[in-house]
Amino acid sequence: MSQSIVKSPVIVALDFDDIDAAKNLVSQLSPNQCRLKVGKEMFTLFGPDWVRFLIDQGFDVFLDLKFHDIPNTVAKAVSAASKLGVWMVNVHASGGPVMIAAAKEALQSSSHQTFLTAVTVLTSMDETQFKAVYQNSDIAGKVRDLALLAQEAGADGVVCSAQEATMLREYVRKDFCLVTPGIRPSGSASDDQKRIMTPSEAIKAGVDYLVIGRPITQSLSPQQSLLDINESLGLAV
Ligand code: C5P
Repeated sequence: MSQSIVKSPVIVALDFDDIDAAKNLVSQLSPNQCRLKVGKEMFTLFGPDWVRFLIDQGFDVFLDLKFHDIPNTVAKAVSAASKLGVWMVNVHASGGPVMIAAAKEALQSSSHQTFLTAVTVLTSMDETQFKAVYQNSDIAGKVRDLALLAQEAGADGVVCSAQEATMLREYVRKDFCLVTPGIRPSGSASDDQKRIMTPSEAIKAGVDYLVIGRPITQSLSPQQSLLDINESLGLAV
């Protein structure tokens, strides 16, 4: 997967129900220092105009809508996302190889380069939840199988837990990208995240992109918090 000019691996998760608060946060960040993630809440509330606004400010946007539907529908949805100009879009790997391949094909025929990632197993799934869905408790095995399935079907990477990065790096190709939430700089609150890693631990484990929300968005100085994270990774941005 080729890299854009943004050196930092940080993707700031914008989880706001108030657009003014989100705009205030974004105005303190620079497109050279991070990328931005728009998820289901903000997209449902503020739609494509909000995504266009962020792109117009110069940011790479990860549209985190985790599509999971029949191949034709998902292909059209990722194609629409690419036309919007987003940098990355994602689907659920469990939607299957035909769905992923259809999404990839749609993106390849788009005039804008949009990367495709696939969610393996949601990090919110504990053993009980996992067992209820899959009737066994081999979460790591399922993450590995879904990542390989996604790679084979043409995805550029997966969204997974940083705790799975070291294991996945043994199986996936070198340029297959790993995107991970559940990142907490040392000293910050874990919030509702259970299995956390610091930014530098995650990078050492082989993660390419770090999704970080509250430690930046709820900080008294979001700009400083982002700067501190980038500095902890040896980046002077
Ligand atoms: O605030 P925090 O850093 O916990 O935000 C993490 C972001 O990553 C949120 O937008 C959350 O929805 C998202 N996410 C996650 N776990 C996943 C997939 C996405 O925390 N498995």
